Amino acid sequence: MKELNFRRHRRLRSSQAMRSMVKETYLHKEDLIYPIFVMEGENIKNPVSSMPGVFQFSLDTLNAEVDEVVELGIPAVILFGLPAEKDAVGTGAFHDHGIVQEATRQVKERHPELIVIADTCLCEFTDHGHCGVVEGEKILNDASLDVLGRTAVSQAKAGADIIAPSNMMDGFVAAIRAALDEAGFEDVPIMSYAVKYASAYYGPFREAADGAPQFGDRKTYQMDPANRLEAFREADSDIEEGADFLIIKPALSYLDIIRDVRNNYTLPIVAYNVSGEYAMIKAAAQNGWIEEKPVVMETLLGMKRAGADMILTYHAKDVARWLEGK
Ligand code: PBG
Ligand code: ZN
Repeated sequence: MKELNFRRHRRLRSSQAMRSMVKETYLHKEDLIYPIFVMEGENIKNPVSSMPGVFQFSLDTLNAEVDEVVELGIPAVILFGLPAEKDAVGTGAFHDHGIVQEATRQVKERHPELIVIADTCLCEFTDHGHCGVVEGEKILNDASLDVLGRTAVSQAKAGADIIAPSNMMDGFVAAIRAALDEAGFEDVPIMSYAVKYASAYYGPFREAADGAPQFGDRKTYQMDPANRLEAFREADSDIEEGADFLIIKPALSYLDIIRDVRNNYTLPIVAYNVSGEYAMIKAAAQNGWIEEKPVVMETLLGMKRAGADMILTYHAKDVARWLEGK
């Protein structure tokens, strides 16, 4: 046979030991951020029907969940709050005894070493379900900034380690940075939802956080899924305004954006593996159509390979267990 000239890539795949040696990307439990939904009331652990394994907790049932997260070695949680009452401005968001503030205090007291990230938005607290204040059907930009600043300060006062504004008003990082600094919280970092698309993948979250818009949609403030260059503009302004981390959201359909941001900026990048991405895997796995563990691991590894440093995911507890071989 004539001698062929080709490379034997399979040499480096010949055994598990060999594959481990040349492995390029790793998932660590230190990369994980676990989202938790807290609501006012007592003795509540409501399953979220579109997100199997995810619950809404009242403060008294929250401890067991957080203990488990700590036990598993997950370093951070992000808290979303469901208030007892909603109003036009979202008063519950910046109330010193609001649900997120109370939950933050409780969790920090019990687990001082756990990083508590407070989601800073208004949609769970406003009766119209939009992320800013409204006038008629218009979502007001500048009028929302003041409310967001107050919300961030009340969260920092309660002990939040990181403020994560998700509302996509222009100037929100500048406004929150100024408010935090003025209140003496210059050391509290901002994890900005810098690149957030108007995505249909948020559907299950709106059930979990009870934050669906009551009219219209979020397309005047969240980004068009068709746009790539706009992600650079969003990241530029958030960095100029003082962001310490950049969140890209959703993750799975936006791996190219994660890579772009990784290649052009040096801030730590968080990929938000959103509710709809979680629901799809859970549903297919429950039907026996895919194997949950390898599919989840491959999906999250893809986000890291794309350039994410951290992953905010509802799979976090399972992943932490699987990484331990449990
Ligand atoms: C609200 C918010 C949303 C998510 C996080 N914060 C929903 C939205 O913007 O409508 C989605 C998270 C998920 O789907 O897991 N500001
Ligand atoms: Zn919102």
